[in-house]
Amino acid sequence: MEKYITTPIYYLNGLPHIGHAYTSILGDVMKKFEQMRGNNVYYSTGTDEHGQKNQHSIENSELSAEEFLQRQSDNFRNLFINLGIDFDFFVRTSRPEHQKIVQEILQNIYDRGLIVKKSYEGLYCEGCEQFKKKSDLDENGHCPDHKTAPKAISEENYFFKLEPYRQWLIDYIKSHPDWIQPAKYANEVLGMLKEPLEDLCISRPKSRVWLGVELPFDTNYVTYIWFDALVNYISTLNFGHNPDFENIWSNSHHLIAKDILKPHCIYWPIMLHALGVAPVKHYFIHGYWIGEGGVKMSKSLGNVVDPVEMVDIFGVDALRFYLINNMTMAGDSQISPDLLKQGYKILANNIGNLQMRVLKMVQKNLNSKVPSKAALNDEDKQLLNNIAKRFTSVFRKDIGLETISELAESIISAGDATNAYFAANTPWVLAKDPAQKDRFEAVVYTTLDALRLIGNALYPIAPTTAGKIETSLGIENPQFVAEFKPMSLAEGAAIKVGDPLFPMIEEK
Ligand code: MSP
Repeated sequence: MEKYITTPIYYLNGLPHIGHAYTSILGDVMKKFEQMRGNNVYYSTGTDEHGQKNQHSIENSELSAEEFLQRQSDNFRNLFINLGIDFDFFVRTSRPEHQKIVQEILQNIYDRGLIVKKSYEGLYCEGCEQFKKKSDLDENGHCPDHKTAPKAISEENYFFKLEPYRQWLIDYIKSHPDWIQPAKYANEVLGMLKEPLEDLCISRPKSRVWLGVELPFDTNYVTYIWFDALVNYISTLNFGHNPDFENIWSNSHHLIAKDILKPHCIYWPIMLHALGVAPVKHYFIHGYWIGEGGVKMSKSLGNVVDPVEMVDIFGVDALRFYLINNMTMAGDSQISPDLLKQGYKILANNIGNLQMRVLKMVQKNLNSKVPSKAALNDEDKQLLNNIAKRFTSVFRKDIGLETISELAESIISAGDATNAYFAANTPWVLAKDPAQKDRFEAVVYTTLDALRLIGNALYPIAPTTAGKIETSLGIENPQFVAEFKPMSLAEGAAIKVGDPLFPMIEEK
């Protein structure tokens, strides 16, 4: 079955930060997880290239709009490639094909009388690219997310009525309890739907915003950024021109953080409903990365975690593992170079050291060959069966945030169990006693086979490390599939002692 996974498309007014990296890594982990289960996945991520925020950055740069957008978008694309993210499509809303589909959709709903023109006065937060109600603001009259006062704006604009769809949306949420995950965000959306919905302003006069998709029915205006950006999810599938659209859309999954709940879970399903298109199948909504100690990351506090710098210090796989292993379901999660270092040490101690120790033993005592499994006893078999059973059960679950964090957790606990087994069986003592040869071989085989299972499960999160583990065990061209058959490491295979998986980090 083909699945479609998307991330938000990111604004280009700054460099990519750890939060952007996280959502796009998460999508890649989900893609690889599904591929191991035998499912095809089409995965999109990319950049949101219109609107006032991007426009101001262009105006403050020395570059033309096209040059600026290209350079900034490339920063994201290149980072994602360096992070091992295997996207199938990199969205750029400046792409003419996307713009054409936005215009076709607007014309469609305009022709059906769903859009009206009227004058409007409102408070606009540029950070959110959204009009705000007074009740959305904090006690100082500031946007609670951006801590800035929204600007009073009065202008003629085009509007799309949301209120007629409110009851439909409430009913849809209530009758599809796993549509928005975790469920607390479904409740948050239901809370937003308690009051009548204001008309959505879908245009911006060109006198104020020139960076956008021109309205097909009034060339004095561009399309509101969110109306344009949300359409990316279907323009990527060539909506309106693709006979296979419904097929893949019916298996779509949107990954977003909690900051963009309203446009995604209110505007977007209503837009689709008006077009006669079913909503996305699932939303997976994660919390925020904040600095160590629970403070928001900010340049002035100096606690912004730069993904490029973190990759330089810890490498791609350790960063990916930290992000996946430490995002809590309950709320926000903390990150800092020190916390990443602790995460790195867990990987080094739990998997890296074990792999190196056992491989060296095989090199020294067993002529670099995987030993026989003939003498495995109940304890050995039980360890391998337990690990295999746990991984099998994780890979049987549907993708979702909980499944992916359970995957990370199951890897660490398999590593802990194998380390405890290794320590208790003291193979370094057995190695010295010729009378214990069978027992020595059984303990080494068990440890190697446990590492093989761990390497296989690790693939979605840390693909390069997973490949290194399997090759070190004598498996050529490892194929990563969700099959965890214990005791199937080939006896006699030639192991390879390479560099440590997680070498000591130089102090900077
Ligand atoms: N352009 C819109 C999205 C349009 S999608 C149709 C936008 N862009 S953004 O650059 O602000 O990106 C927001 C998204 O980036 C979040 O929903 C999340 O995926 C990711 N994150 C940005 N900062 C984050 C954290 N501090 N922590 C976790 N994720 C964060 O909104």
